[in-house]
Amino acid sequence: MRLDVVTIFPAFFDVLDVSLLGKARERGLLDIGVHDLRDFTHDRHRTVDDTPYGGGAGMVMKPEPWGEALDGLLQPESILVIPSPAGERFTQGVAREFATESHLVFACGRYEGIDHRVGEHFAREHRVRSVSIGDYVLNGGEVATMAMIEAISRLIPGMVGNPESIVEESHEDGLLEAPAYTKPAQWRGLSVPPVLMSGNHGAIRQWRADQSMERTRSIRPDLLP
Ligand code: ADE
Repeated sequence: MRLDVVTIFPAFFDVLDVSLLGKARERGLLDIGVHDLRDFTHDRHRTVDDTPYGGGAGMVMKPEPWGEALDGLLQPESILVIPSPAGERFTQGVAREFATESHLVFACGRYEGIDHRVGEHFAREHRVRSVSIGDYVLNGGEVATMAMIEAISRLIPGMVGNPESIVEESHEDGLLEAPAYTKPAQWRGLSVPPVLMSGNHGAIRQWRADQSMERTRSIRPDLLP
């Protein structure tokens, strides 16, 4: 899978070289390009923003640098992903869907966002998705893009050591995952639930399913039908 990111802060993405993602890049499972939007400006100040039509606070990102940057990156098979608090919600389902794609291009806006025509223009010939990672406002799309890249890339076959660890985790079956424990069996007066040390795999499966349902009911009832 190929990922391209366009941003005015390429340094945000330096951490992609560490941890699991770094290994995936080394092993050729993932190919990531980070591009500086200012390289597609032509004025002395490398201007990427301007005041909003209609007035209001903040600045809006100018369409021209985005047009040039994205012209050079988008292929017929690409999806253009525009992180925005006004987008559709990014869920495990969307991550799973994106993980099957061959090319994603992330357009990280800052300020009050990117001129709306950029998405409109590229939607004429490409698949364009405006996506929010949650109901809160970040300063720009960079951190949202990092979160999406991590969620998507760990679903690529060969990325995570044990594929079962993906199948069993929170959100994969629409519920929160049961709590996990390791040794020692006693710690600061707290014990591991005895069923987990019973060796009875049927009972363990049932306990985890019950915990999963109970946790979801109390913490995230909105996930239940
Ligand atoms: N940019 C700013 N806030 C965001 C959010 N919640 N999700 C995606 N992109 C954003």
